[in-house]
Parts: sequence; C-alpha cells; structure tokens
Amino acid sequence: MDKKPYYISTAIAYTSAKPHIGNTYEIVLADAIARYKRMTGYDVYFQTGTDEHGQKIQEKAEAAGITPQQHVDNVAAQVKEIWDLMNISYDKFIRTTDGYHEKQVQKIFRKLYEQGDIYKSTYEGMYCTPCESFWTPSQLVDGKCPDCGREVKPAKEEAYFFKMGKYADRLVEHICTHPDFIRPASRKHEMLNNFLLADEFIGKSDKELAAAAKDGTLKTKLQDLCVSRTSFKWGIPVDFDAGHVVYVWLDALANYITGIGYDVDSPSGQFKKLWPADVHVVGKDIIRFHVIYWPIFLMALGLPLPKQIFGHPWLLQGGDKMSKSKGNVLYADDLAKIFGKDAVRYYVLHEMPFDQDGTITWELVCDRTNSDLANTFGNLVKRTVSMTNMYFGGTAEDKGVSEEVDDSLKSAVCAARDNAAAAMDKFCVADALDAVWAIFRRANKYIDETTPWILAKDEGGRARLSQVLYNLLKSLDEGAKLLSPFMPAAAAKIAAEIGSVGKKEGSYTVTENPETLF
Ligand code: MSP
Repeated sequence: MDKKPYYISTAIAYTSAKPHIGNTYEIVLADAIARYKRMTGYDVYFQTGTDEHGQKIQEKAEAAGITPQQHVDNVAAQVKEIWDLMNISYDKFIRTTDGYHEKQVQKIFRKLYEQGDIYKSTYEGMYCTPCESFWTPSQLVDGKCPDCGREVKPAKEEAYFFKMGKYADRLVEHICTHPDFIRPASRKHEMLNNFLLADEFIGKSDKELAAAAKDGTLKTKLQDLCVSRTSFKWGIPVDFDAGHVVYVWLDALANYITGIGYDVDSPSGQFKKLWPADVHVVGKDIIRFHVIYWPIFLMALGLPLPKQIFGHPWLLQGGDKMSKSKGNVLYADDLAKIFGKDAVRYYVLHEMPFDQDGTITWELVCDRTNSDLANTFGNLVKRTVSMTNMYFGGTAEDKGVSEEVDDSLKSAVCAARDNAAAAMDKFCVADALDAVWAIFRRANKYIDETTPWILAKDEGGRARLSQVLYNLLKSLDEGAKLLSPFMPAAAAKIAAEIGSVGKKEGSYTVTENPETLF
C-alpha cells in the first residue's frame, strides 16, 4: 500500500548570524515530529533552509567588506553544519537565493500584479530597518516599532501593495471553521483579536464570526501590505520594474511551495503530491506571518492552505531573551561538545513547555543530563548489559517462565506506545518523551522487584534469571525504538549494545563492553 505523504517544514532561518540554541530547538522539534511520522508509516518530506535576502543582510555584508552572496554562503554553511551536527533528517535545505526559488517568486509577483491583487502606489510612513516593515504613526508603540521596540525613521517610497482586505473575510472564516489550523489553540484568539478583527467583533464566537464573514457583514482591520522595497538592492528584483525588490516575507514564505516545485504555469508532480503542507512549524513571533499573510497569498494564487501552523514558544536563557549584545547566547555545538548531541536534543524537547516559554542554562542541561539521562536511563542500560554478561556470558534467553510482575512491565511498554502516539498527535513532544521514560522508570523498578543478584545465588533460579534479563532487554529494545525519533544516536547505540539488530528469535546477545551513554 502507498504510504501517506506528510509534508512538514520549519521556518527558514535568517542568514544574519550563526543560529543559536533557540533556532536549533525549532529544527530539533520538527525533526522529532518528522522522524516519528516516518516511524509510524508516513512518507515524510521535511523541508528547512535559509532566508537570505533583505536590508539587514546587505548591511552586514557591507560592514564585513564582503558581498551579500559571500555573507549568506558563509552563514548558510554554518546553519547546515549545526543542523547536520544535530542529526536533522531534512529532505531539502532550500535557500532563498536558489535560482529556482528566485525565478518562481518573480513569476508569483507578476501573476498577483497582473490579476490585480498587487498594485503600485506610494508609501509614506515610519520604517523599521531591522524588521524591514513600514508602520503608520498609530501603529507605533511609544513612537517605536511595535514588533521589536527599536527606533523607526520616516520614509517615503514608491511601492507595490497587496490588497489584503480582499481576502480577510475568507481568512477569518477559514480560521473559525478549522479549529486545528492554528496550534496551540490559545494563539488563535491572539491572532484574530490583535491583527484581524475590527473592535466590535472581538469576543464573538467562532460561529458568529464565520457567519458574519460569509454574509459580508464582518469588519476587519487588515490593511494593505507593502510588498516591494526600493531602499536597498539585496532582494529578488521585481522583473517588470527596475529598482524594486520583493518584500522579504513574500519571498521567504514562498519557499514552502517553491521548494517542492511550485510553478505558476505548471506545478511539479512533487508539488501536487505534497501540497497542502501538513504542518509549518514556526516560532510564536512569526505565527502572524503564517496565519495571515501566507494564507492570503495562497488564496490569491488559488492554492489550498496548509493544514496546520504550529507556533512553538521561545527558549530563553535563564529567563532572558538571547541576544549578542547581552552576551547570553548559547549555541548547540558548544553544548553538544560537553553533553553530547542527544543530551541537547533531549533537553530542548523535554524541557520546553508546549505553550509557554522555556529556559536553558548550562547548569540546567547538566542537571537534566545527570538525572534523567545518566541515572534513570544510562544506568539501566549499563546494569542490564553487565548482568547479562556476568550471569550468562552475554546471552539472555526467553525461557517462557512468566510471573505477575512481568505483565506489569509489558503493559508499561504498551502504554508507552499509546501515550506517545496520543501526545505526538497534539505535538506535545515533552509528553511523548515522558511516556518513553515511563518504560525506563518501570524497568528500573522491575530490577528492584525481581532482584537478579539474589536469583543468581540459587542454581534453581537460572531460568527465571534469564527470563528477567530477557524481559529487561526486550523493554529496552522497545524503549529504544520509541526513543529513536527524539534521540536517534542514543537509540542506535542502545540497539547495538543489546544486540537488537538482526537478533535471533527468543534471545538477546549483548556487547561485552558497554559504553557509558551519557
Ligand atoms: N526568516 C524568518 C522566518 C521566515 S519563514 C518563511 C525568521 N528567521 S529567524 O532566524 O529569526 O528565526 C527562525 C525561527 O527560529 C523562527 O521560527 C523563530 O521563531 C525561531 N526562534 C528564534 N529565536 C528563538 C528562541 N529563542 N526560541 C525558540 N525559537 C526561536 O524568523
């Protein structure tokens, strides 16, 4: 039977600087979901990449005395290096400077212009350079950029605008009739209230909003969006108007379709197979672009909307936003050097709450690695493998002798599978890891309950002892399989140590010299 396709993407990282542990958290999160889906029988396509245009990048390159292309080549290589180091199983790494992407964005822009969704006018307003956004004076907060809080400066330019308002009703209706579109659900109201609905509609139920959108009585506050720039050059040129480059967000969002072969005239077979995407995984700060601008661009192109936008919270450094100027930026490669890549994966996947910001420090990663990984898990593997070597020269057999306590170990394994599946369905990755850890905790308790060292003293206890070790190895085998989407390297190491690959039916032959896992 053909496997069902599953298309998952991450945000594409800015190529302003090397990605920190917060950006890395997002890719690890998406990787865990992608690997889990693959393991459970989906034909997964996982796309990530880099967002390489914009004024900020042009300025960085100028300051470094290199061309913007050299600058983005350097940073894109660093991003890839970290993704590869963290064992990210992406199928495609798209760069917005890829020729195919650039050409398709130009075609998209032209099509939207020709069909009247984009028009030319002049923009006069306040401009925030870091965010590359124009604001009206009423949108400013204390005279500063409402997004990043930095200084804005007056600017006037000829520009192209997208008629957002034309699609606002349809968007509200979609959001209100597709409860799974924005995840977690708490983000939905934030989006509707802050960016979409006119004041008199705030607080109305989904049903009322959908009805108002349908009968044309809904009022929204969505303004037309400026989708071109003339103040800098490092962007995709509007091919019918020299001097204009395409707004970075229109350029960047399009990666989700150009990366799978979208073409305005003749989309590829891969595009037809994969679109609409199953989920775009993005940070909470950019959900807005994904649930407002992106769906509207897609509607204008006559394409279906992605099934879900999953907005994850932020990883903070000891409660603070990470920033170079504060000198508190943590990097995955530095952490991995000390703790190992899977310990870093475990930390970000397990310690991040589902819908609230989480925190990371060297001390916290160290504590978690010692308690959950080394004590609960590493020791369990080590003890089981050592006892199998000590009592049976490395091979534990299934003797068909079962006691009541064995059943509770077996049911812990089955429950873990079900609980992990239920958690992953909701993208509650930390809960899925807890479900796996329940196996290891139960197995540790099983050792205390069955006391192999006492069984070993009695010749008559040999069959039972073999059974106990076999049961432990089987639980580890199942646990490692379930763990593999989250900690692929550790799972593979355990599988090798307990001899689960190509093993004989009814026995496990373990390695002679188990390594310390964490
Ligand atoms: N280039 C845009 C995305 C365009 S997608 C069409 C961008 N890039 S980014 O490099 O700033 O961020 C990449 C992703 O990392 C975003 O989803 C962002 O929310 C996420 N994070 C950035 N800092 C983060 C933390 N401290 N914690 C968790 N995620 C963070 O935005």
